[in-house]
Amino acid sequence: MAKNFDVVVIGAGPGGYIAAIRAAQLGLQTACIDEWQTADGKPAPGGTCTNVGCIPSKALLQSSENYEHAGHTFAEHGIQVKGLSLDLAQMLRRKDKVVRQNNEGILYLFKKNKIAFFHGRGSFAGGKAGAWDVKVEGKTPGTLTARHVVIATGSNPRALPGAAFDNKLVLDNAGALEITEVPKKLGVIGAGVIGLEMGSVWRRLGAEVTVLEALPAFLGAVDEQVAKEAQKIFVRQGLAIHTGVKVGKVSAGKDVTVEYADSAGKAQKLNVDRLIVSIGRVPNTDGLNAAGVDLKLDERGFVDVDANCRTNLPNVWAVGDVVRGPMLAHKAEEEGVAVAQRIAGQHGHVDFNTVPWVIYTSPEIAWVGKTEQQLKAQGVQYRAGSFPFMANGRARALGDTTGFVKFLADAGTDRILGVHIIGPMASELIAEAVVAMEFGAAAEDIALICHAHPSLSEAMKEAALAVDNRTLNL
Ligand code: FAD
Ligand code: NAI
Repeated sequence: MAKNFDVVVIGAGPGGYIAAIRAAQLGLQTACIDEWQTADGKPAPGGTCTNVGCIPSKALLQSSENYEHAGHTFAEHGIQVKGLSLDLAQMLRRKDKVVRQNNEGILYLFKKNKIAFFHGRGSFAGGKAGAWDVKVEGKTPGTLTARHVVIATGSNPRALPGAAFDNKLVLDNAGALEITEVPKKLGVIGAGVIGLEMGSVWRRLGAEVTVLEALPAFLGAVDEQVAKEAQKIFVRQGLAIHTGVKVGKVSAGKDVTVEYADSAGKAQKLNVDRLIVSIGRVPNTDGLNAAGVDLKLDERGFVDVDANCRTNLPNVWAVGDVVRGPMLAHKAEEEGVAVAQRIAGQHGHVDFNTVPWVIYTSPEIAWVGKTEQQLKAQGVQYRAGSFPFMANGRARALGDTTGFVKFLADAGTDRILGVHIIGPMASELIAEAVVAMEFGAAAEDIALICHAHPSLSEAMKEAALAVDNRTLNL
């Protein structure tokens, strides 16, 4: 196999494998190195997202939601389920199968696009601009020479000081997806995206879940009105959420005890069977030999890049979780495509203003653009329009009328500045808002577009109409 490449990508997560595919499509000789492996040592490309992130978490969210529906909402539809029981081992096997299908899909795409895949660890071994040496250690050891290198090495979970992950009692995201018996009591540190998604999974399956969050505000980065609604719903569902706490000592023995000060400063103890720690993630540059080639990292350990994902080294680029910006799979992919195109001498486009966020709880939470609190802080004059799913026919037929859609539009030009959704299928509905914002649409544009009836998307049109106080069904 050729050892000289136009592009060598280190890491085959969403940032890396997509960069490799786009580079190959553009006619560049491309290699991709990834070290992730299955329990029996086989390559498992797809990174955090495929192996222990987006995909398995969504598989378990779907399974646990089905279980909850069968137990609690089917009867309302006239469907009686007798002898309902949980086969957790099968649920986990299904999740693993979904992951494996994705791993294999990526391996197939590598083959189809004639990308040389190396299973092992990649690191800088020297070289210079236009001819970087990248060492591969693993099943196919050797040294590759690359005209361009794309670093896409992702991120790792952040541990609580003094409470290392053992993935038996103190769990990171990988451990949280592998619990083989539903814990009676589950603790979650950090009410962020992972904490709420994984907390929801295990609550639905029967665990008593307590979430401890350091910040006083729940979901502080989310539009306040949405965050308040979400907190109310999650508490009603049974999640015990304590905000403004200061987590102290964590002791793991037979079970786990978390000592913390509550929001009033009072000492408290939480005793749980398992503890998920989801307090953010840190960039992963382990074993890259960044220092050996003077690759610049920023003060937080991210690979330092400019707006175009260029590092301080000529022809060395970095994308995804290992660089600044939101740690999202689709952001990593966009950067991967843009970098491949820049390498090929084309234009690369990533619009950070229209990166959508989704929290896959039930109801789902999704947003794009500015929150009301951001607009207020920036002194932007805006108009808001909301529409509740309670008044949407399709939501009523679905039996899921929680939440609302909210549009925020510039008071002068009517241009859409942000869209916030809490409710059924918010993850799908948000796409319309992303397209609208990308095309610089006004709220009136959405209000003028014909939306199918009955569909949840009508709530988008109605919320856009509400910006001008013209809702029709409320
Ligand atoms: P990664 O996916 O982390 O991939 C990096 C790859 O590089 C890994 O395979 C790693 O093994 C490999 N690697 C690292 N160093 C080397 C080396 N030196 N040599 C060879 N290989 C190396 N995002 C969403 O958008 N939607 C979601 O629903 C979502 N859910 C998530 C759920 C969980 C539980 C978690 C933890 C994350 C979730 N994310 C989600 C975030 C998403 O997973 C990341 O943003 C995304 O995976 C980042 O992609 P990446 O390519 O930058 O890095
Ligand atoms: P997060 O940043 O979403 O949330 C971490 C939470 O922990 C914050 O609310 C923070 O205030 C809190 N926290 C930090 N230190 C704490 C402490 N010592 N004690 C108590 N609380 C503390 O991070 P999370 O949930 O770990 O997820 C990491 C990233 O992975 C996310 O930011 C997101 O980018 C990505 N992700 C995306 C998903 C999606 O798109 N649906 C799903 C899951 C993860």
